[in-house]
Amino acid sequence: MCGIVGYLGKSRAAPILLEGLRKLEYRGYDSAGIATIESTGDLRVERSVGKLRDFEATLPLDELDGLVGIGHTRWATHGKPDKANAHPHIDSSQSVAVVHNGIIENHRDLRRELTNLGHNFRSQTDTEVIAQLIEHYLHNDVPLHDAVRTCLNRLEGTYAVAVLSRHAPKEIIVGRHASPLVIGVGNEETLVASDVPAMLQHTKNFIVMQDGEMARLTNNHIDLITLEGEPILREAEEHPWDADMAEKGGFTHFMQKEIYEQPRAIADTIGERTTTLSSRFTLDELSEIDGKLSGINRAIILACGTSWHAGLVGKYYLEEIAGIPTEVDYGSEHQYRKALVDNNCLIIPISQSGETFDTLAAMRAAARGGGPVVAICNVLGSTMAREADAVVFTRAGLEIGVAATKTFSSVLAVLYLVATHLGALRTSISSEECSTLISNINKAPTLLEQALKQESTLESLADKFHNVLDFLYIGRGINYPIALEGALKLKEISYIHAEGYPAGEMKHGPIALITDEMPVIALAPQDDVYEKMLSNIEEAKTRDGLVIAIGFEGDSVLEGQADHFVPMPNCPRLLTPIVLSIPVQILAYHIAVQRGCDVDQPRNLAKTVTVE
Ligand code: AGP
Repeated sequence: MCGIVGYLGKSRAAPILLEGLRKLEYRGYDSAGIATIESTGDLRVERSVGKLRDFEATLPLDELDGLVGIGHTRWATHGKPDKANAHPHIDSSQSVAVVHNGIIENHRDLRRELTNLGHNFRSQTDTEVIAQLIEHYLHNDVPLHDAVRTCLNRLEGTYAVAVLSRHAPKEIIVGRHASPLVIGVGNEETLVASDVPAMLQHTKNFIVMQDGEMARLTNNHIDLITLEGEPILREAEEHPWDADMAEKGGFTHFMQKEIYEQPRAIADTIGERTTTLSSRFTLDELSEIDGKLSGINRAIILACGTSWHAGLVGKYYLEEIAGIPTEVDYGSEHQYRKALVDNNCLIIPISQSGETFDTLAAMRAAARGGGPVVAICNVLGSTMAREADAVVFTRAGLEIGVAATKTFSSVLAVLYLVATHLGALRTSISSEECSTLISNINKAPTLLEQALKQESTLESLADKFHNVLDFLYIGRGINYPIALEGALKLKEISYIHAEGYPAGEMKHGPIALITDEMPVIALAPQDDVYEKMLSNIEEAKTRDGLVIAIGFEGDSVLEGQADHFVPMPNCPRLLTPIVLSIPVQILAYHIAVQRGCDVDQPRNLAKTVTVE
């Protein structure tokens, strides 16, 4: 977590750093700060606790004229979120400033060693040891980049760092190990950041750094080297995203904008992939490893949070369409159990960011079994994308709201396509079935447009229920994961307690919770478990439950049974999880807005969880 940014060029660095931090705030917002080398040659550090807007309110921006600087937005791990622990951190002689994303695991040993050498620590962070250690090595004629390289070789743990020093006022030294870092190559200006959006105003050309690499940056030159000091040649690559994606475009919140982008996101994700002859559908991204894929006899999906919920839907797709027995595991659990994953097992890690620490660790652990790794993620050049044998990207575009919305439905579309590819490859579906599947998924963008039309119904439900203390979401079969996802959306942005449950399990315990003060959101499209859902809803009603049913339009039985009814367009069963994602997202959004919550930056969270 945490976002870091750096700039060297012809313009004043401070406003550019602030703009970059604004784009990175989704990575953490406990505190913010910048360091610049001023025209006087002084190192100037400004920082404050709280969100970026609090920092900006205190920043004497007009006074800062330096053309070189680094910045940071923090998600606290070591040291509480106060000013002393805010980045940038500086050394004892106040000549080196460091911003860091990651965790330095041997920071206690280093702190002890440096304290014994007379270094004066001011914070409780692990990061401060980096600044102090660089100071320790930065003596006599040692250039800054050599001092930083020696320092980085002593660190254990994870880091993306950017280092600024008044001893080398026209350069920034950066290093990466297991936390993302990207260099932006502009015209007489160089940028660096945790993520591409922070730099898109200035360039579309990027060099993605890899683990064990560092670089010396000036405004017109980049020396990329290994931690052993060996030069690395890597050209910048052009990125398809553009700067407009990082704007709200007339919506009140990024989350709302991203909910409304779903028809476009799904259309782009399935787009050109499904325009080829659908009866012989193949995903080009997988064709190179088809040999390996035809030999697999099971699959394991690895993910966290919302991506894990998408994985649960993926299990239905892979088992039903491709006939592949599938297990779904949390990244954080998989890495610590003795999972039996051999070379006949297809490994599918799912991550919007491609940088989630636990999912990456699980992917690496599973890959040791020798099976093919097919990643699903949204960010080009991400660690997951680079390490997998093949990647099927969602084409959702940049997602800024901490709550995943358009990337969730886009992952569902990719899982559907992967299952169809595997089904066709293994002939578990006929060419007619394949054509039907492809023609059905092509209906998804229109279905989502129709689903979005229910916003006002959902807004009035939010108006009615935004003050309740608990919500229950129930669903069955392929829509049980949507019950889990609906509950997660509500929890994370409105702070209301919510549980997702398979409706058939209610009578084994949770039905005891039901009162007329706990709304039950029942996902009940007319599918193979529809009659069962009606019975489960009746069980809730009999116990004074207050039911909000989400089902197909024109379903008078469901409408008559529930207290409130949200109609969704009638669609093929395998598309129902994609369509029903929309109402649970919109309901959570409006409840959070009506409770006055910070929808895009909910408390305690960060969008990309790059620590364990
Ligand atoms: C979703 O709304 C959450 N922000 C969170 O659960 C997220 O899905 C999870 O942290 C995984 O992120 P990833 O997809 O980038 O790996």
